[in-house]
Amino acid sequence: MGKVRWPLDQHTKAKHDILSEYLKAWYPILNSTNKKIVYIDGFAGPGEYEGGEAGSPIIALHTAKDHSLKLKSEIVFWFIEEDEERCNHLKSILAKEEVPQNFTIHAECGSFDERLTRALEDIENQGKHLAPTFAFIDPFGISDTPFSVVGKILKNKKCEVFINFMSGFLNRFKDLDMNEEHINNLFGTPAWQAEATRTEQGFVEYYQQRLGTTAKYVRSFAMKNENNQVIYRLVFGTNSYEGLKKMKAAMWNVDKSGSFTFSDRTDPNQVLLIPHEPNYQDLKRLIVNKFDGLEVSIEDIERYVVIETIYRETHFKRQILTHMENATSPEIIVDRPGKSGYPKGTTITFVSPTEASKITDDCNETAQKSLFDF
Ligand SMILES: C[S@@+](CC[C@H](N)C(=O)[O-])C[C@H]1O[C@@H](n2cnc3c(N)ncnc32)[C@H](O)[C@@H]1O
Repeated sequence: MGKVRWPLDQHTKAKHDILSEYLKAWYPILNSTNKKIVYIDGFAGPGEYEGGEAGSPIIALHTAKDHSLKLKSEIVFWFIEEDEERCNHLKSILAKEEVPQNFTIHAECGSFDERLTRALEDIENQGKHLAPTFAFIDPFGISDTPFSVVGKILKNKKCEVFINFMSGFLNRFKDLDMNEEHINNLFGTPAWQAEATRTEQGFVEYYQQRLGTTAKYVRSFAMKNENNQVIYRLVFGTNSYEGLKKMKAAMWNVDKSGSFTFSDRTDPNQVLLIPHEPNYQDLKRLIVNKFDGLEVSIEDIERYVVIETIYRETHFKRQILTHMENATSPEIIVDRPGKSGYPKGTTITFVSPTEASKITDDCNETAQKSLFDF
């Protein structure tokens, strides 16, 4: 049996930062339109780390409790932890929490797989649906997160998953016979043996493909150790365009270079010296390549940027379109409803091939493909 609490690593802190940043946006969006929403923490842990730092259940709870907006509808927190001592530790911490009346907390000692399978079956048998849910699935290994459960959660409307996919672990132990069945369950099919490339990256891409069978949008974020090797990827699956935008914002917030990676090796002093901003030249090249010679709505450009590139909806108007519009020989013609900016209803015509479109593919494009194109 492991220790009840353990030290907080830098990459765990980064994981928590993404989680809380996303939940900050998720709670009010979902809360405003639904009577009840559910936060599931399937591998909840003891609720705190060795130095007293908050664990994910407490982070999720505090993000809701301390929210600057009033969250009026019911929020159900469902925490599941298999290890009895950790579970009891979590319960003792939760007992000290004062929470608003519309919050309901269930902390259960048990296994994620078993509890969720039962709950989802009950819901299905009653002909009901899971309320809008964000499920944080954060195991230590690969054996307790079967695709049968993950896929089922995603099939419910407005339900999302945020999974710690232990790809480094999987890559190291993929050839052990005893793991074969676990890996079949993880991917929900034995076909991975023929279809997945047997590398850390190959496994993640395959997992993203599998999630893509039930989630419209899938994004991942790599966590590396001090040796710069990937330990795990945080994989997010959603059917909500708004959710995708908010998760990308949370991920950009943790890695401002846009490589969607956090490494324990990162020297904080160095981070201050490197100007962290999106590669606007790269984004301009992508946009021009996509829309060259076409007349398109501003919404089409935004959807392209959000869905098909690593960049965000906040990265292309002021930083790219304004320069293209104001160039000595304008590269776009803008037809806008108002006097300035690029509000809804704006149409952009990309007039001529520009230098940007001639820039040949560089390593950025390779990086994009590997992470997002499937
Ligand atoms: C990575 S830790 C979770 C950390 C926590 N999410 C956080 O961020 O503070 C994984 C936890 O899952 C628990 N666990 C292992 N197998 C489990 C299972 N099948 N169901 C639920 N919990 C499990 C472990 O005891 C451990 O506390």
